[in-house]
Amino acid sequence: MADAANPRLPVVVLISGRGSNLQAIMDAADRGDLPVEIRAVISNRPDAGGLRRAALSGIRALVIDHACYGSREAFDHALMTTIDTFDPSLVILAGFMRILTPGFVRHYHGRLLNIHPSLLPDFPGLNTHARALEAGRDQHGASVHFVTEETDGGPVVAQVCVPVLENDDAATLAGRVLAAEHRLYPLVIGWFAEGRVSMQNDRLLFDGSPLQSPQRFTPEDLTA
Ligand code: GRF
Repeated sequence: MADAANPRLPVVVLISGRGSNLQAIMDAADRGDLPVEIRAVISNRPDAGGLRRAALSGIRALVIDHACYGSREAFDHALMTTIDTFDPSLVILAGFMRILTPGFVRHYHGRLLNIHPSLLPDFPGLNTHARALEAGRDQHGASVHFVTEETDGGPVVAQVCVPVLENDDAATLAGRVLAAEHRLYPLVIGWFAEGRVSMQNDRLLFDGSPLQSPQRFTPEDLTA
């Protein structure tokens, strides 16, 4: 938790792509709305657009290219070793498109967050927007969860519910969900930084009490 001696929580952000969630986190921190110090941004892909966003903000931007490693374990070991040189209290997955090994996940138990573009437990994995449309859902959205060994299966802290509109295609729906993600993720990271939310033995505590179900928001709640 951030405290008087260190009012900003040290974090490392992992990305694979355009980095719009990273941008939302950096912007919230710059505005003074999010008490984190982003010590590094690390991408597993050299062409990730988020690397430039980090560099433009004066944040250390590193590449650890998974293609240069012979196994998932070797890559995760290199990633973990690099992350730990920055001594983060929280590791934030922001569009990091690699399955992480159990050893990596255990190492960061209780301090590894992810954002996933669906209302988990619905639609873990890829192509969530198209799958929500195919399933005829009238509600879709995004979830922020602690990462456990089950992919997209860790306890969910908060969700934003986005209505599916009659003429939506996967791209229009994805755009509205993404805009809501940009509000939801900084909010939950802020709760973690303030010590309001934690995971103990794979269960969530929120303000000292067990959190039985995710905190749910509409996009309007998050813009208020
Ligand atoms: C987001 O939709 C996020 O939920 C998912 O990957 C996407 C990353 O987008 N995990 P960006 O790189 O943050 O723009």
